[in-house]
Amino acid sequence: MHKVALMKGDGIGPEIVDAAVQVIEATGVDIDWIHLEGGQSARKKLGASLPDETLSTYLECGVGFKGPFSVEMEDERVTPRPRGVSKNKQPRSYNSATNALRREGGGFAAVRLARNYRGVPAPIHGLDVVIVREINEDIYVASEYTVEDDTAVALKIITRKASEAVVRFAFEFAKRNRRKRVTAVHKANVLKQTDGLFVRVAREIACNYPEIEFNDRFVDASCAMIVSNPSWFDVAVMPNQYGDIMSDLCAAAAGSLGLGAGATYGTQACLFEPVHGTAPDIAGKGIANPVSQILSGALMLRHLGEEQYAAAIELAVKDVLSETANHTPDLGGNATTQKITQAIVDRISGHNSR
Ligand code: NAI
Repeated sequence: MHKVALMKGDGIGPEIVDAAVQVIEATGVDIDWIHLEGGQSARKKLGASLPDETLSTYLECGVGFKGPFSVEMEDERVTPRPRGVSKNKQPRSYNSATNALRREGGGFAAVRLARNYRGVPAPIHGLDVVIVREINEDIYVASEYTVEDDTAVALKIITRKASEAVVRFAFEFAKRNRRKRVTAVHKANVLKQTDGLFVRVAREIACNYPEIEFNDRFVDASCAMIVSNPSWFDVAVMPNQYGDIMSDLCAAAAGSLGLGAGATYGTQACLFEPVHGTAPDIAGKGIANPVSQILSGALMLRHLGEEQYAAAIELAVKDVLSETANHTPDLGGNATTQKITQAIVDRISGHNSR
């Protein structure tokens, strides 16, 4: 039996997490869900958006399944003290509970899946890409300062260690998921030292994976290609900022944020969650698209070694999305969260009983 830390979160979180749990359980996989508080709901109830108990239990489980958490106050700092940290040691501080979970778990690679589905309206067709993004460095270390009134400077940091870890992960992910090509995305023609190091490391690592095709592309050309030749990309690995931008581009190109599955892989714990936020505009209405959370669940099952259950979920989602009657309002339909969830559950149960 797998132990999974379950955090439903805020806004549409509880609705789509319940839907995803229903779908995961329909496969027959044996999971012991450990229910934990987190997000603004926990803050209201327990005074902390990431209670120490939640972080400690998540780290002990090593796997978390999470709905989105809302960040209500921009200046909120989260300083959890997980079990085992000495009282004398200064706890680390984060700008959100989600970030704290990702960092405390030793997160080094974020994965975002984006693909088009037959029958789902989208601005482009043929996209099926895995974005693998480094998450600890690059310009997002946010080390910036003002030199004088009208001049500001920001540091971009790229290290061999972090680049190696994320590129190696991208190749391993490609191998496990029978993907054929890894592309390193960069701007090394301009940023010769920083992005130059990233792409050099990527080329070195690629030599260890002769069975997987490797190439590299400039980030601007990559964005153009997502639109002009979407089926070209397979697995794309990149530094933090390019990954941030390309993830949103690909999520929009897929047709809805409600289809975007994601995960953060860490040295101590991995967190599976959709790419979007709490969608406060539709929370409580029963019309949120649960597919992002359900497909994040499939990613989690694959991580747990339950390939056949992961594949069953992905197949059922594909089948169900091909019928417009199952489309939630974000996809242009009027199905409820429960209707599409039930359709996916029925499809899985049908496959299981054959
Ligand atoms: P959002 O992603 O929540 O919503 C953007 C738009 O997409 C809205 O119109 C929403 O209705 C729609 N949408 C998102 N997911 C959907 C789904 N599953 N089905 C149908 N429609 C969906 O972004 P927003 O409004 O900027 O953020 C709201 C809150 O979420 C903020 O407090 C933010 O900090 C938080 N957030 C949390 C994240 C996390 O926990 N990983 C990630 C991103 C935002």
